[in-house]
Amino acid sequence: MELLHKIKIGDVELENNIILAPMAGITDLPFRLICKSFGAGAVCTEMVSAKALMYGDEKTKLLLNTKGEKRPIIVQIFGSDIEAMKVASKYVEDIADIIDINMGCPAPKVVKNGDGSKLLLDIDLAVSIAKEVVNTVSKPVTVKLRKGWDNKHIVYEELR
Ligand SMILES: Cc1cc2nc3c(=O)[nH]c(=O)nc-3n(C[C@H](O)[C@H](O)[C@H](O)COP(=O)(O)O)c2cc1C
Repeated sequence: MELLHKIKIGDVELENNIILAPMAGITDLPFRLICKSFGAGAVCTEMVSAKALMYGDEKTKLLLNTKGEKRPIIVQIFGSDIEAMKVASKYVEDIADIIDINMGCPAPKVVKNGDGSKLLLDIDLAVSIAKEVVNTVSKPVTVKLRKGWDNKHIVYEELR
């Protein structure tokens, strides 16, 4: 197989397998437009807080500006509250072609709330969140995760 090749995520076909990783503070609309113009198969928003979306935070909504952007677009959401994740995934459903759940962020301000990679310490909750989001939206859902919380908790096989 060619290094660069088409891939499908759910029913979404990407022109190639190069995907811009989500980066908070970096992968805003202008940066995504540049990466798309250089040929990225898909680009991803910065992680967006599910709770902030649920509470209607205007600054958070601005992170979801995709004006003039070519599809496909991946929107990444984060959170550990099932209801907030359901509300947020419904909110981003019309904006995103693919919805990604963040289960990898190690930033203290994120994990202190049980979000991001902290979910890897609660497999049942992580699986429930993924299932609820999948059942809420009709778009493909992916999860970006680490192997585990630390060397003593390698859990990625359990989450497959
Ligand atoms: C500034 C910065 C912000 C990031 N923000 C996110 C994020 O919002 N969501 C996420 O899943 N990963 C985030 N990451 C992790 C990256 O997506 C990526 O997984 C990580 O940088 C490892 O890839 P690399 O080895 O190519 O750097 C961030 C990384 C950096 C450097």
